[in-house]
Amino acid sequence: MMKHQITKVLNFGAGIYDKWAKHNLNEVYQKFIDLANLNGNEKVLNIGCGSGNLDLMIAEILGEGLIFGIDVAPKMIEIAKRKANKQGYKIDYRIGGATNLPYENNEFDIIFTCLMYHHLTYEEKSETLNKIQRVLKQDGKYFSFELCGFPDDLFHQTFLKLFTGNSGIIQGLYPAEIIEKSGFYIDEEIKGPSFVKHHHTKYRIMIKK
Ligand SMILES: C[S@@+](CC[C@H](N)C(=O)[O-])C[C@H]1O[C@@H](n2cnc3c(N)ncnc32)[C@H](O)[C@@H]1O
Repeated sequence: MMKHQITKVLNFGAGIYDKWAKHNLNEVYQKFIDLANLNGNEKVLNIGCGSGNLDLMIAEILGEGLIFGIDVAPKMIEIAKRKANKQGYKIDYRIGGATNLPYENNEFDIIFTCLMYHHLTYEEKSETLNKIQRVLKQDGKYFSFELCGFPDDLFHQTFLKLFTGNSGIIQGLYPAEIIEKSGFYIDEEIKGPSFVKHHHTKYRIMIKK
């Protein structure tokens, strides 16, 4: 199921990733929570949830609400489940790919993807947005946080070719025609923090047409 080298690497290093994310992504998770303005009874899906750090922050806020997390990497899900159990939160975690979301139509009020979308090929991006469109309620919102692309120098291009194949990092993110075709529109776009100086990021809020 894990087609891309980069996903295999992340699965192998899930424990290290978990620690990195806890230290470096808290600001991003908090921004997501502020933007989503959760009132406590939403049904929330986190696609490519990784080791579940965002889910734990959401769980603190949700009273009657429900959180679902899905990730293609079994080790990420294992860690996420362990942490949720330890803190006494009931989060529905599943191992699975973003292109095949095993949920009902119009099931979720809020969907998050945090640094996941850039792992997908062009075709997978398109398929994933279509699936997000299917499982998101008509008045729901899709929040993404993503890298804006990488420098066009030899080092980055070679590194990315070796580790990400034809994944979207190379093509740049959020191809406009995919968003258009999927039936979403961008309601808001906000500049995010930069990682390692040159890795610029953006939050996007997408809404169904
Ligand atoms: C950089 S990590 C981000 C993890 C998490 N969202 C966070 O905030 O820490 C990217 C995650 O996307 C997952 N992923 C990559 N491709 C995926 C796919 N096709 N379907 C579901 N998850 C995927 C990886 O396994 C990894 O856990």
